[in-house]
Amino acid sequence: MTEERILKQGNKGFYITTPIYYVNDVPHIGHAYTTVAADVLARYKRLCGETVLFATGTDEHGKKIQRSAQQQGQAPRALADTVVRRFQEAWRLLDISYDDFIRTTEDRHTAVVEEMWNRMKASGDIYEGVYEGWYCVPDESYWTEKELADGKCPVCGRDVERVQEQGYFFRLSRYQQPLLEHIGAHPDFILPASRRNEILSFVREGLKDLSITRAGFDWGIKVPDNPKLVIYVWLDALLNYLTVAGYSRDEDRFKRFWPPSLHIVGKDIIKFHAVYWPAFLMSAGIPLPEHIVAHGWWTMGDVKMSKSLGNVVSPESLVGAYGADATRYFLLREVPFGLDGNFSDTAVQTRINSDLANDLGNLLSRATGMVVRFAGGVLPVPDIADESDRALQQQAADLSRAYDAAMNNIEFHTALAAVWEFIRGANRYVDQTKPWQDAKAGNIQRLNTRLYHTIEATRITAVYLLPFMPGTAQKILAAVSQETKGLSLQQLSAWGGAVSGARIVQAQPLFEKRTDAGKAAAGARSAPQEQQIRPTANGKKKDGGQTPEQPAQQMNQLISIDQFKTVELKVGTILSAQKVEGSSKLIKLEVDIGEKRIIVAGIGKSYKPEELPGKRIVVVANLQPAELFGIQSQGMLLAAGDPEHLGLLTLDRDAANGTRIK
Ligand code: MSP
Repeated sequence: MTEERILKQGNKGFYITTPIYYVNDVPHIGHAYTTVAADVLARYKRLCGETVLFATGTDEHGKKIQRSAQQQGQAPRALADTVVRRFQEAWRLLDISYDDFIRTTEDRHTAVVEEMWNRMKASGDIYEGVYEGWYCVPDESYWTEKELADGKCPVCGRDVERVQEQGYFFRLSRYQQPLLEHIGAHPDFILPASRRNEILSFVREGLKDLSITRAGFDWGIKVPDNPKLVIYVWLDALLNYLTVAGYSRDEDRFKRFWPPSLHIVGKDIIKFHAVYWPAFLMSAGIPLPEHIVAHGWWTMGDVKMSKSLGNVVSPESLVGAYGADATRYFLLREVPFGLDGNFSDTAVQTRINSDLANDLGNLLSRATGMVVRFAGGVLPVPDIADESDRALQQQAADLSRAYDAAMNNIEFHTALAAVWEFIRGANRYVDQTKPWQDAKAGNIQRLNTRLYHTIEATRITAVYLLPFMPGTAQKILAAVSQETKGLSLQQLSAWGGAVSGARIVQAQPLFEKRTDAGKAAAGARSAPQEQQIRPTANGKKKDGGQTPEQPAQQMNQLISIDQFKTVELKVGTILSAQKVEGSSKLIKLEVDIGEKRIIVAGIGKSYKPEELPGKRIVVVANLQPAELFGIQSQGMLLAAGDPEHLGLLTLDRDAANGTRIK
């Protein structure tokens, strides 16, 4: 039986990429999600014996970065240098095994961008003209008047600026037909199918030529022969994938890895990857990537996490609260890749408690414990397998097929679900065969067979977990004395790999059960409700009605009174208020809650600063501080209502500032 697999093994190396991240933003869970997913596939492919090039990096040019740097009073390069370290540190904490980290400010990249500019020009695809329209700096994207949604960016809902400048255009319109043909001939080029359809209808509506230069600032790669203009940051950024592959620099590397096997991106940047990028490549006569897969968004309280909303969870706080492996497991197990998922500490803790501490922890603990107790810590030789033993072996064979199919179809949650079905099967095997009864009755050969099978099932589980939870998998393999060096997944997962005679020690618990609330998300504030799922360019909600398959517990989450008490709500009075420069929505407040606090609140569309002093409000006093537009916000005020008409929560009787709300 062979299921269809999207990722096929060829002679070429496996080249996998993440988007390169903007350096105006420190890493958050959204960035971690893409990067962990790419890491898992890279590790899996290496384990299958393939040569892998796994690249990530940072997108450092453009107006957005220049503006952020300016707001923080530093040079763009200095800002980039600082934020790059934060990304690299986050990836170290999360055990990310990238082979290359590209920064778009590196010389190797400038050379590629210049070379590509010249090739696209030589194809007759670059011409001079005047761009007149709108530009969204946070998304670094162009919009026509018609595309705007209520005068705002139709993707992120933020303010756009009017642009009229002389520059260069790329003949994108020329590639409408070739793109449609390519997408039609390669059904797996854009994944999942919902995104493919979205892109198909976008291309069918007609492609306009694309402005590919910006004037009036200099933080970017200069246009060859016209250094007053900088190259549009998305053209610059997309070409990073060529730079990493050694384009025009390292012929061997390029031959081995081009075209990219898989670009993993978030659904918000699919248009850039599935329309602009292939058109640039076609223009330069370079083969197109094999697959582009778009994942969904992490939300909190059903609002997209993003730095500008202040509702982000950082990889550091996740790893600090739960460790790298539980974080990696949660991110890929909780939500089918491609759909949105809502983050909550309770959801992480439920996964840790039921899947990691219970199912996996129990299997390891009883497998090693029984060998220590009944066989003196030495793995016995199994006798002839009976029906129960053979059923367990069959489950391992089924797992192998299901796991490989899921991994090659980029369905991480399915691969993990299959591993957990096997773990539960192995636990059932122990429950049903009751080896302790054989020990008591002196059925030594039966006992030995059960012990061997239980250890073997544990070992095989660990092998499949190597890509997802490398540290934990290695701990389990060490406990069952399995060497992995130089062995492929196929060799490691074959039944019978556990070596009789090996020393087995009682394994320590891998994961502690968690019941504490509010861990990793403690510093993240809920975002105002107006920032709900962003509309698309055609004004429809972006998700096309897809909802994550959330576990039942999550949909019906109840909290205990003790959990509620962890939130310190206090009465306060607003002392002063002023608009935050550069934001249409944020107001900086000085508030008395028994002590003075600075709070940055997203209420600027509903209140003028002068209306606010003297208002009695309710404040969340024990939020970790968060930085918004360079201002440290030391709490959050409560408000409700639609975006333009938020109402502040207040008291209908007097209570002193600082009074705790119960
Ligand atoms: N610099 C561009 C990418 C250029 S690639 C040639 C960019 N950078 S980004 O830092 O803003 O975002 C990078 C990725 O993070 C995107 O794929 C985006 O979808 C993802 N995420 C940002 N917030 C997210 C969530 N809340 N949830 C999941 N992923 C999201 O775009």
